[in-house]
Amino acid sequence: MSRILILGSEGQIGTELSIFLSKIYSKSDIITADLNKKTDTDFKFIKLNALSYFDIENVVKKYEVDDVYHLVAVLSAKGEADPLNTWKVNMTSLFNVLELARKKLIKKVFWPSSISVFGDTSPKNNTAQFSIKEPLTVYGISKLSGESWCEYYNNTYGTDVRSIRFPGIISSKTLPGGGTTDYAVSIFYSLIKKEVFKCFLNKGTKLPMIYIEDVLRSIRMLMKADKNTLRIKSSYNLSAFSFTPNELYLNLQKRFKNFKIFYESDYRQKIADSWPNKINDNYSRKDWGWKPKYSFDEMVEEMIKKVSNKLNNE
Ligand code: SER
Repeated sequence: MSRILILGSEGQIGTELSIFLSKIYSKSDIITADLNKKTDTDFKFIKLNALSYFDIENVVKKYEVDDVYHLVAVLSAKGEADPLNTWKVNMTSLFNVLELARKKLIKKVFWPSSISVFGDTSPKNNTAQFSIKEPLTVYGISKLSGESWCEYYNNTYGTDVRSIRFPGIISSKTLPGGGTTDYAVSIFYSLIKKEVFKCFLNKGTKLPMIYIEDVLRSIRMLMKADKNTLRIKSSYNLSAFSFTPNELYLNLQKRFKNFKIFYESDYRQKIADSWPNKINDNYSRKDWGWKPKYSFDEMVEEMIKKVSNKLNNE
């Protein structure tokens, strides 16, 4: 069994990935690390800044880590407030992990990319793996550059770095921090708290999204796949479902008649408008058997249940 290190363990993906992987690995083989501990899980936790190569290397050596899940990032909307810092955080942390792989101190890396690598000039519908990519945000530029560096390391040094371009991720344990797709998470909190929801995107803005359970499963599937079957050395397109704020609202309003929404778009609208409506994920399906389990409706049901439980237990 491998020993794994999750960098950015307290974020939206990290908090759920550690629990998901603890069903596969023994708990003592999972090391979590972040700037600060936020969750009340009892995994081994290291307080660490992913910008420090030596801090990560020390943990990797001390705990004989095999695989790193590198989830640290400043997201699309928040990233625009301080472009140079976003670039620094997203790229330096990635290079630190790529270098560990190049030096063979670790065996395998998972690093999430995003639909933000696409831009206004990409086709909106059925956006393909190799479609034009001219990202609008610093986050998108860092993810696209990061993808190219992953490919470069894989081709040049024979590293085993695997990556997925995630759609907007919908989850309940930890709020996403500053993304453009975040409305699709916070709407559930307003619903359960019986508040009117103020949506920062227009009602017709269709975006690709995915439920967290499918995200976790996709990471596991890709990491388990035979390296020789993986044709994409940069990052795989991934798709589950797409919807607009209005479609999500109507779905919720069917179940909660009094739920109200109003629209007040801001700077995030321009970012959302530059992203695809729907992604073509043929390469993931062919190379490692990807198929989402959760439909739009099933995601809504799960989120209502989970967010209700969470708020009732607070
Ligand atoms: N969900 C992310 C964001 O909105 C996209 O990768 O920034």
